Amino acid sequence: MASSLQNYVLVLLLIAIIQFKTTSSHHHHHHLKSLHFSLYQHETINKTGYIIVNGIPQSAGVTETTTPFGTLFVFQDPLTLTSKRSSKLVGIAEGTSITSSFDGLRSISIAKLTVRWKDYKGSVSIVGGTNNVKASDHPIVGGTEDFMFVQGYVTSSPVDLTGITVVYKIEFHIYWPPYATQSS
Ligand SMILES: *[C@@H]1O[C@H](CO)[C@@H](O)[C@H](O)[C@H]1NC(C)=O
Repeated sequence: MASSLQNYVLVLLLIAIIQFKTTSSHHHHHHLKSLHFSLYQHETINKTGYIIVNGIPQSAGVTETTTPFGTLFVFQDPLTLTSKRSSKLVGIAEGTSITSSFDGLRSISIAKLTVRWKDYKGSVSIVGGTNNVKASDHPIVGGTEDFMFVQGYVTSSPVDLTGITVVYKIEFHIYWPPYATQSS
């Protein structure tokens, strides 16, 4: 009688431990630190962005949305809080893109986005394909300062492609892996 009661208590204890373990790992998963915000990138041809190497002439021409295949473009563009150029300057986007489709619409981009947003300061580096007329996701390969070790992606979408300054919405989706947040 006494031993079966003991077994019963033991089983209850085991169940409790198993449940505690599953809820605590679940709990941890839900507290993966992340940050989501949007800024606006303003690119003015021959002022903040330049063609450094011309692409091959027999592909697409130079327009607001296309550049010839192989064009090497370099930019240092302001990042602001709203789509208005006069809104608060909160960062810069420095990078390069190489036109990688024959229709001149897509490129491979490498960029470092340095931001000072709310209490956060630092940079994220991104690499990926950019479509000049559609939203594109760029994987985050890492970061510095407050963004050290981060992962995630940055979505860039065209807002205004007319005129000499083109505007892109830049959405940041930043995730800190558990080992980057343990000490903070
Ligand atoms: C930018 O500069 C290049 C080289 O000087 C010139 O050919 C091109 O027309 C300029 N583009 C604009 C939009 O001013």
